[in-house]
Amino acid sequence: MKNLRKAVFPVAGWGTRFLPATKASPKEMIPLVDKPVIQYAVEEAASSGIETMIFVTGRGKRAIEDHFDSSPELELFLKEKGKDLELEEIKKISSLARCIFVRQREALGLGHAVLCAREAVGDESFAVLLGDDVVDAQVPVLAQMMEVWNRYQKPVIGLMEVPQHLIPRYGIAAGEEREPGVFKITQMVEKPAVEEAPSNLAIVGRYILTPDIFEKIEESGRGALGEIQLTDALVAAMKDQGVYGIVFKGRYLDCGTKIGWIKSQIYAALKHPEMAEEIREYLKEMVDSWR
Ligand code: G1P
Repeated sequence: MKNLRKAVFPVAGWGTRFLPATKASPKEMIPLVDKPVIQYAVEEAASSGIETMIFVTGRGKRAIEDHFDSSPELELFLKEKGKDLELEEIKKISSLARCIFVRQREALGLGHAVLCAREAVGDESFAVLLGDDVVDAQVPVLAQMMEVWNRYQKPVIGLMEVPQHLIPRYGIAAGEEREPGVFKITQMVEKPAVEEAPSNLAIVGRYILTPDIFEKIEESGRGALGEIQLTDALVAAMKDQGVYGIVFKGRYLDCGTKIGWIKSQIYAALKHPEMAEEIREYLKEMVDSWR
């Protein structure tokens, strides 16, 4: 097995889908129960064997750097107060992996954000994880994708089926199913209208890319929404060397929209050992009160 060592986290976006909450705070730091959403993606990468996390950040995103850094004052405080569990949690975050931060000076799109990580990535294959997309899975989605990548040695994207009305919110891909749930991609379109979509398979925020993607991003102009789109560079990679997609196993939690986030909170709280029971009772009480 060839190992992927590096993962890129584009975290410079404005978070417009979450305004006004994201006016002065990074959307990646919005919590899902008790952890910021970005931590789930970083943990997924770490548990899939990634050693170096490359964050593509921008202005107003310092909280992300602080979150993954060690915090000696807080650690000392917790130690003195005998809050051992909290201390352990806090220390675990900064020991997850080696972090590198690069800046995206202008928010020109996801493709452009990935391009900003070029030097830090170097000449090797790498993963891209979007913090908005959290997946509760027995085997981390990135690890599921690595398995396909090892077999085909081509870029791999994470896929899931979406209902029609959500098609325009995603990149949509279609292809030939080579084995159950694994597709050789033949079409990809960023945020198509429902009638133009080649399928209902959405690209979720998980990618394994080969380093030639950087040139392809440079060559692709502005696409959907006037932005430099990663999907457009992937179309070039598909024509050139081929791209695979895997319909991953796991529960997708959309933490990038208000409604998706509320649903994700409920889902995650119902799975949280200390909260599940009380939340279940509360929900029941709410439902009963509508009758
Ligand atoms: C990005 C990608 C899109 C993908 C989506 C998954 O869009 O451009 O192809 O389907 O992430 O969340 P964004 O959410 O940045 O608009």
